[in-house]
Amino acid sequence: MIVLGIESSCDETAVALVNDKREILGEALLSQEEHIAFGGVVPEIAARSHLEHIDSILEECFAKTNLTPRDVDAIAASAGPGLIGGVVVGVMTAKALSVALNKPFVAVNHLEAHALAARISNDVEFPYLLLLVSGGHCQILVVKDVNNYERLGTTIDDAVGEAFDKVAKMLGLGYPGGPAIEKMAATGDVNRFTLPRPLIGSGDCNLSFSGLKTAVRKIIETYSLDGNVAHADIPTQDVADICACFQYTATDCLCRKVKKAIAYFKNKYPDGKHLVVSGGVASNTYLRGELKKLAEQNNMIFAAPPIRFCTDNGVMVAWAGLERFRKGYTDTLDFKPRPRWPLDANAPKAAGAGGVKA
Ligand code: KG4
Ligand code: ZN
Repeated sequence: MIVLGIESSCDETAVALVNDKREILGEALLSQEEHIAFGGVVPEIAARSHLEHIDSILEECFAKTNLTPRDVDAIAASAGPGLIGGVVVGVMTAKALSVALNKPFVAVNHLEAHALAARISNDVEFPYLLLLVSGGHCQILVVKDVNNYERLGTTIDDAVGEAFDKVAKMLGLGYPGGPAIEKMAATGDVNRFTLPRPLIGSGDCNLSFSGLKTAVRKIIETYSLDGNVAHADIPTQDVADICACFQYTATDCLCRKVKKAIAYFKNKYPDGKHLVVSGGVASNTYLRGELKKLAEQNNMIFAAPPIRFCTDNGVMVAWAGLERFRKGYTDTLDFKPRPRWPLDANAPKAAGAGGVKA
């Protein structure tokens, strides 16, 4: 079984081919650089760029294999949540291929693609506990099965990746902020500044990063004569210290809530063995290390996708498409892309799509 996956929900135009032996047969990815100058993704620019590049990325992917589109058993695309202009490009391309090749179309929830990505290269079985941390989302979930999720907590304001990006922007470190902060943090002192941990005593698994980001802003303002962060003149070592303290505190907030979730998970799902982290922020080596320790302290196995499959890519979409397709989930051509699409909603029904074909 071979599935083609298309990703275009944010600023990566990406395509991949995977099979049910968990082999990646081909892949191609273009990270849009047009957004760097703006310090964040500009939706209209992203949509135009997806439209311009999707055909050549598809060609590049197939050119790396001995396959032709006719060898594919199903065509999957990220159908939301995400920036709708880009999502439409991927979904329409997938639908067009589906009609031309007479092969099923599979609408993939982008969050489900992140959620299942760890299963490509690790033997992770359902149910597992998942920390999903990306630029737009920050959730703790139980992955009970394909299409079956229990959400234990979510951010009530910023996603953690968004907080990384905003702090990096204030420090003039560019976009995306996560990798830049991680790099600077390596030479910083985590004891230099004490930062707040919002919601930490809330007793639930919800998270908040807005107050943490504001606390960093206040520190940066002290380096500016007129209080404007854009005019702050911060010595390199101080930038490193701010990055280290921010990364340390954000990770601590995540780990404390994951610890709570582990207690719930072990009680309700005694057969579950794995703690998984996925999404762009899961590329962060410090976060991965702290979660690994937490898993080991709680007799769980830590798993995460390889770093290159944490940020958006076509492989995770192809894989989630394959997992859905082999369980009988396909979608009809009237499926409407969804800018918002919670993972714990019954996906096909809520989308008005074809639903499960058993
Ligand atoms: O999953 P992703 O590629 O796109 C979304 O679905 O949002 O995640 C992108 C996010 C960005 O906020 C980026 O700053 C963050 O992941 N990120 C990181 C790292 N690499 C990417 N955050 C922290 N540390 C990293 N090494
Ligand atoms: Zn993503």
